Amino acid sequence: MRMYDIIRKKRDGGELTTQEIKFFIDGYVKGEIPDYQASALLMAIFFKGMNFRETADLTFAVRDSGQRLDFSAINGIRVDKHSTGGVGDKTSLVVAPLVASLGVKVAKMSGRGLGHTGGTIDKLESIPGFKTDLSEEEFLKNVNEIGVCIVGQNRDLAPADKKLYALRDVTATVDSLPLVVSSIMGKKLAADDDCIVLDVKTGSGAFAKSLEDSRTLAKVMVDIGKQAGKKMLALITDMDRPLGNAIGNTLEVKEAIDTLNGHGPEDFTEICIILATNMLYLAGKGSMEECEKAVKGAIADKSALETFKKMVKAQGGDASFIDNPDKFAKAPFERNVKAQKSGYIHHVDTEGYGISSLLLGAGRNTKEESIDFSAGIVLKKKTGDYVKEGEELAVMYTSDEKRFESAINKLYDSTVILSDEPKKRPLVLDRVE
Ligand code: URA
Repeated sequence: MRMYDIIRKKRDGGELTTQEIKFFIDGYVKGEIPDYQASALLMAIFFKGMNFRETADLTFAVRDSGQRLDFSAINGIRVDKHSTGGVGDKTSLVVAPLVASLGVKVAKMSGRGLGHTGGTIDKLESIPGFKTDLSEEEFLKNVNEIGVCIVGQNRDLAPADKKLYALRDVTATVDSLPLVVSSIMGKKLAADDDCIVLDVKTGSGAFAKSLEDSRTLAKVMVDIGKQAGKKMLALITDMDRPLGNAIGNTLEVKEAIDTLNGHGPEDFTEICIILATNMLYLAGKGSMEECEKAVKGAIADKSALETFKKMVKAQGGDASFIDNPDKFAKAPFERNVKAQKSGYIHHVDTEGYGISSLLLGAGRNTKEESIDFSAGIVLKKKTGDYVKEGEELAVMYTSDEKRFESAINKLYDSTVILSDEPKKRPLVLDRVE
């Protein structure tokens, strides 16, 4: 078998066999297939797509590319949630401790930023001392004792995805259905959870922009998960506007802490409650109404916040930053972005907002680049809000003043202000069980 022939077959719209898919994944993990050939195949898959069988084969090949985890040492039911990626999506920071505080175990492996979206691991690493690289024993011990632990994908878990994720991030091959499915489900199935709630984003900031594509993505992932014996549920949630007000690592951690304290932004709090409710429900903790009541209670009585603090401490982080978020280092440069005209924020290109944040230093342009944790944007106005000319639209933060110009221009280009008020879009657009 030759990689050249596999690339050519997909380039010409052919259907790859199970063996060809396995050959690619195994060879790439072993380093026998170079990045340039892998990139070419990714681009061919991007343009030509894959059918369900190929997508499932790719997913299982990614899952089997490394060690399959064994969570049997964890007492109790294990539930995970995974987002397909969004802008300002810091839900894992809130829902993982929230669900854990209610007695369901969350043994979570998360990723770094990808394309225009941020990653949970980058966000958590902005907490001084926080370690996302724990041994398996430490990981399992923390889950048993605290109820939750969030780590980066360990080197042996789905190593194919680890390499492909970083490659896709810099070769414009992220937003492809089979690649998103195999990346997410390959990792999820290599872990050992009982239930998985998928948060499939839809809209201008999502990898799947249309509701129809998001439904297909959700259905394919739910079907593959069920095929592998998991309890699955997917929510399709709005990413036509950033989630919450903060975009960028430290800024998002601070917003998650606010939310756990009961005063987060309305949209973000609502989505956290919905996701946590569905996680508990799937884990068999009662009716949807009972689960929702429990979730709201765990925010109100601060037990979710306490669990988050315990998790931070157990992973080497300085928990005093959670008690006092003003301790987080602020970016040396700050700029107000003013509205150029009056009217309603009618629509925003959420991906553009994500890119604007990357331009400030909150993400990577190459695999090796490091992140400016303090960089990002705090939105002062969002879709549906009325704004007067000269009024503050957003505040931007960076460690490199030269970055402001392009980031501000991107934000302006991504914001449509019109005289008529836009229709309200629900936060959850569909549910796939
Ligand atoms: N999250 C992942 O883990 N992989 C993707 O491809 C997209 C989002």
